[in-house]
Amino acid sequence: MTNNSNYLVEMRGIVKRFPTVVALNNVDFRVRQGEIHALLGENGAGKTTLMRILYGMYKPDAGEIIVEGRRVIIGSPRDALKMGIGMVHQHFMLVDKLTVLENIALFVEEGFRIGFDRIRSRVEELSKTYGLKIDLDAKIWQLSAGEQQKVEIVKTLYRNVKLLILDEPTSVLTPVESEELFKSLRKMVETGKSIILITHRLNEALMASDSITVLRKGRVVAAEVKPREASRLDLVNMIVGRPLEFRPSVDSFKKNGKPVLEVENLRVLDDRGLVAVKDVSFILREGEILGVAGVAGNGQRELVEALTGLRKVEKGIVKIMGVNVTNASPKNIIRLGVAHIPEDRFRYGVAPDLSVAENMVMKLYGEKFSRKIFIDSEAIRKETEKLVQEFEIVTPSVNAPVSLLSGGNIQKLIVARELSINPKILIASNPTSGLDVASTNYVHWVFHRLREAGGSVLLVSEDLDEVLALSNRILVMKEGKIVREFGEGASISEVGLAMTVGAA
Ligand SMILES: Nc1ncnc2c1ncn2[C@@H]1O[C@H](COP(=O)(O)OP(=O)(O)OP(=O)(O)O)[C@@H](O)[C@H]1O
Ligand SMILES: [Mg+2]
Repeated sequence: MTNNSNYLVEMRGIVKRFPTVVALNNVDFRVRQGEIHALLGENGAGKTTLMRILYGMYKPDAGEIIVEGRRVIIGSPRDALKMGIGMVHQHFMLVDKLTVLENIALFVEEGFRIGFDRIRSRVEELSKTYGLKIDLDAKIWQLSAGEQQKVEIVKTLYRNVKLLILDEPTSVLTPVESEELFKSLRKMVETGKSIILITHRLNEALMASDSITVLRKGRVVAAEVKPREASRLDLVNMIVGRPLEFRPSVDSFKKNGKPVLEVENLRVLDDRGLVAVKDVSFILREGEILGVAGVAGNGQRELVEALTGLRKVEKGIVKIMGVNVTNASPKNIIRLGVAHIPEDRFRYGVAPDLSVAENMVMKLYGEKFSRKIFIDSEAIRKETEKLVQEFEIVTPSVNAPVSLLSGGNIQKLIVARELSINPKILIASNPTSGLDVASTNYVHWVFHRLREAGGSVLLVSEDLDEVLALSNRILVMKEGKIVREFGEGASISEVGLAMTVGAA
């Protein structure tokens, strides 16, 4: 018998086959008690699958799981929770119309019998202990993604978990929110809990974790690496197996290109009917990447939706290539050569039940599809296969439904499709959210190439590093207004400050 008493969880020889892919091929994975363990790997490497096995959502085809020294069978999330294992998914599972407290009560066994008062006081205590402030009486739909995530975490902590699994928690968080989250996680491990953190952000693994495991194509390539002993470059090599090819630069910009997108005094309302975009004016020029930085929820979403025809413009003018497109339909805006990578990949991005090929050509053949006119399916297959190869999209085949793809691979599909129409203007919201380092690097190169070819990009992103690395100019949005503009060479601290305090 080996002494493994300080491992809270051990997974040994885990194999998981899906009909067309071996998602996990003999994986060993161990987490100690009281640590933050980062789980890294490319899109489709098997991270989510491994964690779903630990949380009882999938049954492994082979292998065993040992929790606190005892071999266990985890048949369902209910089993997992009983053993002290909880998971927060990438897509939250909250009921929109209910309050925070009601959602938590739903998740607590016999919650409605226990009564709201007792649940409330316990939740308040948890929030205080771990620094997770939330308004218990707010309705879920009123909360930002970051706040909803806190609800998910508190809900899981309520079940007294010893191990909390977080699947890409920071991909929906602003830098400030991420920092807060890591403070809370630190408090949890100080009280003896363990955390598994799936992330594509290497800095987070290096700064916030105690141990790192890396998966590549269903196998472990590095286990229990100490962050102190690894550099960012080491991690890239472990994850991707080769160095990244593209170094972003902003030097190719031809100043004073002709305006391709002109926005004048734009006013747009949010879902609640409040003014979300307040008299915003700017110009995007040919051959330019214009960054829009800001803390999420400051009007960026409404701005993008108004520019792409998805939301009504209350006041002001939008011109594309000199044509007035204020309140034009999305279809007419697309026809002018505008591509859109949306913020919410499921709402406007893909139809999950349709195949990869159908999703890939949706834009190009949209009209033909809807009129059921003959479509050249052979040509569609070829085009899709080309894009799948170019963007390294991991999919069983071009005929597989998109719902079977990993999160990052769905995002890659959207990016590939939008770029395949050779847009004149690309409006991109958090385009690399959920993408691994290599794919992020590739997308940055593609944006760069588009600019070289005279295309323009409106890059709306919460990832300041990304905005700074690619943009020729940066607009900072706060409370619906553009509060600052920066040229090339702005520093991360200047822009970060403008995002939080606004105009100087
Ligand atoms: N239910 C399923 N049916 C068929 N294939 C699946 C299913 N779930 C996952 N896969 C496949 O298993 C592989 C691993 O997917 P997984 O979601 O675990 O990747 P991941 O490492 O979490 O990626 P990402 O970083 O993109 O989230 C992928 O090839 C994926 O397409
Ligand atoms: Mg995943």
